Amino acid sequence: MKYYVGVDLGTSSLKLILCDSDGKVINTVTNEYSVSYPHSGWSEQLAEDWWSALCDGLPKLLKGVAAEDVAGLGVAGQMHGLVILDDADNIIRPVILWNDGRTFKETDYLNDIIGKDKLSKYTANIAFAGFTAPKIMWVKNNEPDNFSKISKIMLPKDYINYMLTGVHACDYSDASGMLLLDVQNKCWSKEMLDICGVTESQMPKLFESYEVIGSVKADVAAKLGLSPETVVVAGAGDNAAAAIGTATTGEGRCNISLGTSGTIFISSDKFGVDENNALHSFCHADGGYHLMGCILSAASCHNWLCDKVLCNKEYTALEKEIDVDLLGKNELYFLPYLMGERSPLNDTDATGMFIGLRPDTTRAQMLLSVLEGVSFAIRDNLEVARSLGIDVKASCLCGGGAKSPLWRKILANVLNVELNIPVAEEGPGFGSVILAMVGAGAFDDVKQGADTLVKTKDVVKPDETLSALYEERYNKFKKIYPAVKGLYKEIKE
Ligand code: XUL
Repeated sequence: MKYYVGVDLGTSSLKLILCDSDGKVINTVTNEYSVSYPHSGWSEQLAEDWWSALCDGLPKLLKGVAAEDVAGLGVAGQMHGLVILDDADNIIRPVILWNDGRTFKETDYLNDIIGKDKLSKYTANIAFAGFTAPKIMWVKNNEPDNFSKISKIMLPKDYINYMLTGVHACDYSDASGMLLLDVQNKCWSKEMLDICGVTESQMPKLFESYEVIGSVKADVAAKLGLSPETVVVAGAGDNAAAAIGTATTGEGRCNISLGTSGTIFISSDKFGVDENNALHSFCHADGGYHLMGCILSAASCHNWLCDKVLCNKEYTALEKEIDVDLLGKNELYFLPYLMGERSPLNDTDATGMFIGLRPDTTRAQMLLSVLEGVSFAIRDNLEVARSLGIDVKASCLCGGGAKSPLWRKILANVLNVELNIPVAEEGPGFGSVILAMVGAGAFDDVKQGADTLVKTKDVVKPDETLSALYEERYNKFKKIYPAVKGLYKEIKE
């Protein structure tokens, strides 16, 4: 029996999964690390923490498995983060993460001075504060010493791949979120590299997600319980990997992820762009393309309320306090913009807020309004897809938030979409296993691997009465942001 390792380099933790050749999950290990918020709207992590989490977790994951039986490994990672190395491979500064909003000036410069039309022509996308290109420009503008030392630019999962194999590589799905890739033609955009003041020699070599970039370095293999024969595939951005892990491949399938961020991901065989660029147009890990909307705070809103405000981590017990009769009738609204918002608002100044608090408001109502507010923000993105003529009747659902039956029910009814819950809950990790299996030759292509291995354990259907109630509430929710939008900037100054 051969074994395959999937790594999900998330924002709150590194999750490792070991599967056998039948795709059966044999073992999982999760190692948490922290995010630092050095200034309002900033978020950073240490790449060293990711590597330590892997070095600690992998031997535990592989306990009892012979190194030579581990045929392949794939890494999925939080997207967009800027990892920069000098010419001696030292990490130059903490990693600026995907949900960091410091680059609003660079983003405005790109969108307004370079112009959205040009950006869209070069990359198929416009600038969002979280994307990598504005981060490179921020380092250039604010930390010229650090900028001058840059020898290698990489994304989070590519740092792990580099440490494992010594190969400076990136796959097309993750590279798409840098705003440096010509997505349609799958090559670096010379124009964008020039605008950022970097050269192709600093950039990773590009691969399809399922292609083998190399094998594990002998010393690293010995330390981690792998074999120098274990192949490492290019891997994928976590959303593309999650889509593979839920068999969202080929034309017109949809996956929703409720992780730290919340995403709606629509796969396609053909390249396509949302004319208003509210949805990202990226490459997919199956060799095709996808459109994606990303809200910056999803399950993180739930954790914020429970951990920081209610100081109670008994999530299941807290959820039980919510009276199901209140679904669709809650008079409290929550805007989930704790880190500003990406899709479709593109507003780094937006913040979270409750509206409708009363003396008799309970914590159960607050928790419900958080689950609903995140679901409404996902609906905002679904509406953009619907306006493009994409008819989403059913979707897969993965991510930590998908574990809550209550949240699944709310989301299915807010979206009026049937939600399929996969057996393997580890969306990006399981997707990485499938990519590793394709790279190691166990399947002909990603679609075949995903269609063979992904199984559904539950289907949540929307209910006519409840979705009608949520329709009314969504129509009210969507009036709140435009009414307060102007205030966000004012109160920040
Ligand atoms: C996608 C995005 C997030 C991160 C989270 O564009 O920024 O989903 O990938 O890990």
